[in-house]
Amino acid sequence: MAGEKGSGFVSFESVVMGPPDAILGVKTRFLKDTSEQRTNVSVGKPVVLEAVKKAERLILENDARIKEYLPIAGDPEFRQATKEFCFGADAKAVKEDRVATVQALSGTGALRVGAEFLNTHFPGTQVYIPDPTWGNHFKIFGNAGLQTHKYRYLDVKTRGLDFEAMLADLRKAAPGSVVVLHVCAHNPTGVDPTTEQWAKIADTVADCKLLPFFDSAYQGFATGDVEKDAFAVRLFEERGLPMLVAQSYSKNMGLYGERIGALNVVCPSKDAMTRVMSQLELVVRAMYSNPPRHGAAIAATILTNPELRAEWLVELKAIVDRILQMRKGLREAIEATGAPGDWSFITNQIGMFTFTGLSAEQVASMEKNYNIYMPSNGRISVAGLTDDKLDHVAAAIRSVL
Ligand SMILES: Cc1ncc(COP(=O)(O)O)c(C=O)c1O
Repeated sequence: MAGEKGSGFVSFESVVMGPPDAILGVKTRFLKDTSEQRTNVSVGKPVVLEAVKKAERLILENDARIKEYLPIAGDPEFRQATKEFCFGADAKAVKEDRVATVQALSGTGALRVGAEFLNTHFPGTQVYIPDPTWGNHFKIFGNAGLQTHKYRYLDVKTRGLDFEAMLADLRKAAPGSVVVLHVCAHNPTGVDPTTEQWAKIADTVADCKLLPFFDSAYQGFATGDVEKDAFAVRLFEERGLPMLVAQSYSKNMGLYGERIGALNVVCPSKDAMTRVMSQLELVVRAMYSNPPRHGAAIAATILTNPELRAEWLVELKAIVDRILQMRKGLREAIEATGAPGDWSFITNQIGMFTFTGLSAEQVASMEKNYNIYMPSNGRISVAGLTDDKLDHVAAAIRSVL
């Protein structure tokens, strides 16, 4: 029979079961739970922003060619708007037309296109990734054929940045190595370098001739101010450093399922940018030919229409303010239980996540006994919390300590 062992045919019988995704697996278990007190703090629930709804109406009214293929590099209006959003319209690299930008399948796709590009043109490149990080980083760079390493980032004791250890590890990397940096609202720790620390990181990157690959998945989500949150990228750009930046609009525009983002490569000259663009297009062409249209049209409309942009920024600020309020509420609720230890890290950390430092066993116990769901690394999505759940979550944390 075709597929039988030894018959010469390929059989899929030999395929082994892959491990479930750490985050999506949590959601599956949550959905099966019928308890009234079930609480999912692994992710936030996205809302459709008013600015997005309005942009969609405008797109429907205006775009007659709505189902045509986009160019390989994506929507030209989106590409220009997204690089200005990232670096600032007045950035030297933007003005001198030295940034190669391709639309991408959100942040993940942008990282993957960048990794493929690096593996093709700089084979053997070593990639240094913070420990801990968003779990997909290792898979994305590894699947593209690059060698990945960790650099120290979090000080587990203080739940703050282990800055000296981070710099020491970066200094050990060979020249030409890639260093992955979260632009802001580091996932999963919520711990970002200060502006002074960023300046020292830039010095180290320049001295050691490292290539920064920024992951910008939360521009606007850290402080509520999209300009402030771009600080690190803009600092490196001002210093004239070469770099890659992967952008995502999943969180800041709530466009998760539209898969809209971009990859930017800052080049030394316009001429180099043109050559890099041609190579990025070759990567895209062979992977998925050209990107989807709808998310790009939404993001471009919001970024370029002054009224919609202003409305969006107000909505974004409100989301961030609610997260800050939830952080404060969670800290107070835990402190009110008399839980031992210092819980100030909850309000010190930035972005939608708080890294509690709870062990995998403690997380499992919260799930079993309190129907509270989070990934085993103890990361709580503050965006997934509501006022009525704070006491329940606080009591559960108190009991597992
Ligand atoms: C640090 C980081 N990078 C990239 C992404 C990619 O998300 P997306 O592919 O939806 O843009 C995420 C999503 O959670 C993230 O946290």
